[in-house]
Amino acid sequence: MIKAEIREKEWLEGVYERICTKMLSTAGRNRHTLPYTAKDGVFNDLSRKDPCWWTNGFWGGILWQLYHATKNEMYREMAEEVEDKLDQCLMDHRGMDHDSGFRWLPTSVVNYRLTGNEKSYNRARLAADNMAGRYNPAGRFIRAWNDWGEEKKTGWAIIDCMMNLPLLYWAHEQTGDPRYLRIATDHADTAMKYFIRPDGSAKHIVEFNPETGEYIRSYGGQGYAHGSSWTRGQAWALYGFTLSYIHTKNPEYLACAKRVANYFLANIPDTGLIPVDFRQPEDCALEDSTAAAIASCGLLEISGCLEGRERSLYRDAAVTLLYTLDTKRCDWDEGRDSIVQKCTAAFHDAEHEFPIIYGDYYFIEAIWKLTGHEIFIW
Ligand code: GLY
Repeated sequence: MIKAEIREKEWLEGVYERICTKMLSTAGRNRHTLPYTAKDGVFNDLSRKDPCWWTNGFWGGILWQLYHATKNEMYREMAEEVEDKLDQCLMDHRGMDHDSGFRWLPTSVVNYRLTGNEKSYNRARLAADNMAGRYNPAGRFIRAWNDWGEEKKTGWAIIDCMMNLPLLYWAHEQTGDPRYLRIATDHADTAMKYFIRPDGSAKHIVEFNPETGEYIRSYGGQGYAHGSSWTRGQAWALYGFTLSYIHTKNPEYLACAKRVANYFLANIPDTGLIPVDFRQPEDCALEDSTAAAIASCGLLEISGCLEGRERSLYRDAAVTLLYTLDTKRCDWDEGRDSIVQKCTAAFHDAEHEFPIIYGDYYFIEAIWKLTGHEIFIW
């Protein structure tokens, strides 16, 4: 915890400078790539291998945040190249899923906002329309994923999708068409009712009967097990409900975001480092730094919606999480790609604790929020 305000300010300015320095070298080495993870300090490139992967907007988001802060044209050119690459996905029904917000908000929507680029507007509208087409009116949810071979996912919804809703809020703002708003708020209401447990923890996956909308069951998904508490899912819920509040001003969403945030904060271990699942076995020390970075962004936005003691409580909690990441989990070596270390995609994957692009994205976004450099993407 950084107590004195002056020390916090110095620390933040220092992190901001370190990010700018490291990202200038990193971007220079990765001019034409679409990174997802890094191995031995080298980013991979999904441009050809997996152009539809759900994380492919985050590199664009990092570049736009850097461009907004520094006005270095290299970042804008690189971000536009990322956006071009995503067109392969827009043209492939197998690649389009519920994650359109993650892919086109940090790319096309930002580009359109900053430059008025009509091509970007077109892409973002197509992505929003595709996402709206995944709405299930019986269950009032947006369907997650596509079928995996024979395995049908028609009635599945996931908590992560709360972060995609701002693409529909954006489309509503642009067009005035109430269908976008209705689909987004229906999904948020359904998620509030069926995903958030009374203690403020969130389920990852819920299956509904796609014909009748009836609740069937939940799944542990990327967390430890059924009934557990996958920390990145908690972070998506915390930030996602806050965003729905920001876009609609429905106080129920803010109350829900606070419930999830309070649960998250109450379960942070003494180390300040975030496990993959708050309910993983005690002898399991697996971490996921992305949950810390995402939750920090959400906590800062909750703080911005509140006054007085509550305002500082959530802000201080975010600063503490970020300070812990900086001092214990960030790699500041300019010769190596990726900043945030020890990220985990899913508890039961074969590999854990490696750098993942959205760990860097949300860490940068949070530091940008605190230093006044952010372009608000969601
Ligand atoms: N949205 C997928 C994940 O968080 O891994």
